[in-house]
Amino acid sequence: MVKWQRKWFRSFAMNSTIKPAQGIKGRLQLPGDKSISHRLAMLGAVAAGQTVIDNFATSQDCQSTLNCLGRLGVEVTTTGQKRVTIRGKGLQGLRASEETLDAENSGSTIRMLSGLLAGQPFTTRISGDTSLQRRPMKRVIIPLTEMGATIEARDGNYPPLSIRGGTLQSIHYSLPVASAQVKSAILLAGLFAEGTTEVIEPSPTRNHTELALRGFGIEVGVSGNRVFLRGGQMLRGIHSRVPGDISSAAFFIVAAAILPGSDLTIESVGLNPGRRSIIDWLKEAGANIVLLDSEIQGGEEVGTLRVKPSEIRGGRIDGAMIPQVIDEIPILAVAATQSRDGIEFRDASELRVKESDRIHSIVTNLRSMGAQVEEYPDGLAVPGNQVLKGTSLPTFGDHRIAMAFSVAALAARGETRIEQAECAAVSFPGFFEVLEQLAVR
Ligand code: S3P
Repeated sequence: MVKWQRKWFRSFAMNSTIKPAQGIKGRLQLPGDKSISHRLAMLGAVAAGQTVIDNFATSQDCQSTLNCLGRLGVEVTTTGQKRVTIRGKGLQGLRASEETLDAENSGSTIRMLSGLLAGQPFTTRISGDTSLQRRPMKRVIIPLTEMGATIEARDGNYPPLSIRGGTLQSIHYSLPVASAQVKSAILLAGLFAEGTTEVIEPSPTRNHTELALRGFGIEVGVSGNRVFLRGGQMLRGIHSRVPGDISSAAFFIVAAAILPGSDLTIESVGLNPGRRSIIDWLKEAGANIVLLDSEIQGGEEVGTLRVKPSEIRGGRIDGAMIPQVIDEIPILAVAATQSRDGIEFRDASELRVKESDRIHSIVTNLRSMGAQVEEYPDGLAVPGNQVLKGTSLPTFGDHRIAMAFSVAALAARGETRIEQAECAAVSFPGFFEVLEQLAVR
């Protein structure tokens, strides 16, 4: 069995050379889910008592969250490879940080933490790397300001943020973009607010915050597209286990689905309905993915998948489906080149404000590999049945671009060089080693 191993987080600039493969074969367990790990750590920090999180994500992004919590006076201990223990400070126990918090590359860290910081009686500065400093924050600034926080930002929209928290009022807020990070920031601020805070989603986004809050003993209401909670409720520390990250699994699922000599089993992977849409969509399109078992752990569905190659027909992904597969579009675009009919992605302009402009990154790299692709302001169309050729590809500093094009490299003719491949560690340290161990040549 190939298991992920913790590597040192900050690796050196590294190129990765990938040769074509006939398939990927074996059994795999993935590092803990990044989205869930962020939430458990943040909630643990403001809970009463100790929180123990097993299989905590190894991603650099989640380490950024732990570092920020440490700067806010939270005692965080990492034991062995996978256990993180947090001594909760309660809702009022965080301490002002003299230094600017560094969220590095992590949008989840800066946006969700902004919700917690909005409720603190002190000012915090928080920033990140050059990619994060280009990402829009108005989407959290507007609702948190409406609740009573004072937030300054570069050009009113970009990090560094300076967040002066205080007494908050509850709000009823309709999200202009379907964003789980923004929903979560508002719900976290809602813990500190007087009255009931309600978030209305234009279309469903991942509900890990709602599930985690319930795990910590908070009453969270959900009715249709509305999520609400009463402020002032106390969180109680928990012991929880994080499922394997389905967004990391996606790269291996697609590799096994498109490479003819594959047979892959993925164990203990998260199957939350708001995250598993890539599996449901691929199955609908003809992929041979079988759910061998599943159970509920800490409110989240976890299970074992077996993936074998088969023809993928293709189709269109748009509308409410986009937030369901938002992180999987780079790898689905690679899958599209090997599908029968291709895939058209529309209503996906959010991709332009991710770790890179992912529409541009995907289009540029597919074209470098000799593929046809049409670019739109809100998406791209990738015809099927295409031959990819190995070449040298930039990652645009974007972990999901690095990993998606490593899978494209397995399906290509000739060798591919992924430049500055170290950015994969933002969500998956050890990715290239695991891919190599599974590759059949
Ligand atoms: C995330 C939500 C999504 C996703 C990101 C993680 C989360 O972002 O792209 O990788 O953990 O809530 P948005 O909320 O900006 O859509």
